[in-house]
Amino acid sequence: MSTHSYSQEVVWIIGASSGIGAALARELAARGATLALSARRKEALETLTQSLGAGHQIFPLDVAHKEEVAATARAIHSSYGRIDRVIFMAAAYTPMKLSALDMAATKQMIEVNLLGAFHVVEAVLPILTQQGRGQLALCGSVAGYTGLPGGQPYSATKAGIINLAESLRAELPRSIDVKLISPGFVKSELTDKNEFKMPMIITAERAAGAIADGLPERGFEIHFPKIFTRMLKLLRALPYAISLRITPHFNA
Ligand SMILES: NC(=O)c1ccc[n+]([C@@H]2O[C@H](COP(=O)([O-])OP(=O)(O)OC[C@H]3O[C@@H](n4cnc5c(N)ncnc54)[C@H](OP(=O)(O)O)[C@@H]3O)[C@@H](O)[C@H]2O)c1
Repeated sequence: MSTHSYSQEVVWIIGASSGIGAALARELAARGATLALSARRKEALETLTQSLGAGHQIFPLDVAHKEEVAATARAIHSSYGRIDRVIFMAAAYTPMKLSALDMAATKQMIEVNLLGAFHVVEAVLPILTQQGRGQLALCGSVAGYTGLPGGQPYSATKAGIINLAESLRAELPRSIDVKLISPGFVKSELTDKNEFKMPMIITAERAAGAIADGLPERGFEIHFPKIFTRMLKLLRALPYAISLRITPHFNA
């Protein structure tokens, strides 16, 4: 485990009302961080915050609404005087096949998972730039590494997140740290929707521990569990002539 202490740090977790984001809030609070917690479900955020002790605050929002994200970033900054880390965990997920696309759910996934991330980028970059320091961490997924059967359109939004994080790293000065978080399967409300067997699935607490360890490290990507993520990295690195013969066998 990393020895980094989060005391004296203000961390904004977006998507903190359940799953990995809520577990990360518990983990970072235990490691001393002061938290600003966002998601749509106010009651879930209140219950979580009450269990964390004093000093933490909730800032309910819908990431699909640009003005709410911008106003919340300003409110957190003026409340604490700074924001040290911004961690974008929010996502919507509806499993479907491309042969039976649900366009309303598709639009929602794009608006929350991808457009929501752009709203956060637009809202926090001026703050981090003015501070001259800070971190922006975006949660992608191994689902975004390569196109697999049964994963769309969620996977397309996660491929977009990976690309966005890579571009942020390329464009921003090194004084602003950019992290890409790439989980494999993690037990949560999101994966409870899957009816197939999820290989090497881990708990949200274990995922949160890996993220809390990884955020202060130098590397760009925090990925876990490593055996699973490395297999998918290998698949992604293969030429299409080989990989496209393998991917149809991942049919869930
Ligand atoms: N679980 C996995 O196996 C897995 C694998 C790879 C990547 N991930 C990624 O990990 C992150 C966390 O997922 P999870 O598994 O912990 O799922 P989860 O329990 O469903 O958490 C999703 C979070 O996003 C929030 N959210 C959804 N729509 C929102 C909106 N419009 N505005 C603000 N917040 C919104 C939810 O809160 P409200 O409903 O209260 O708004 C909730 O806090 C996601 O980015 C997901 O894609 C998960």
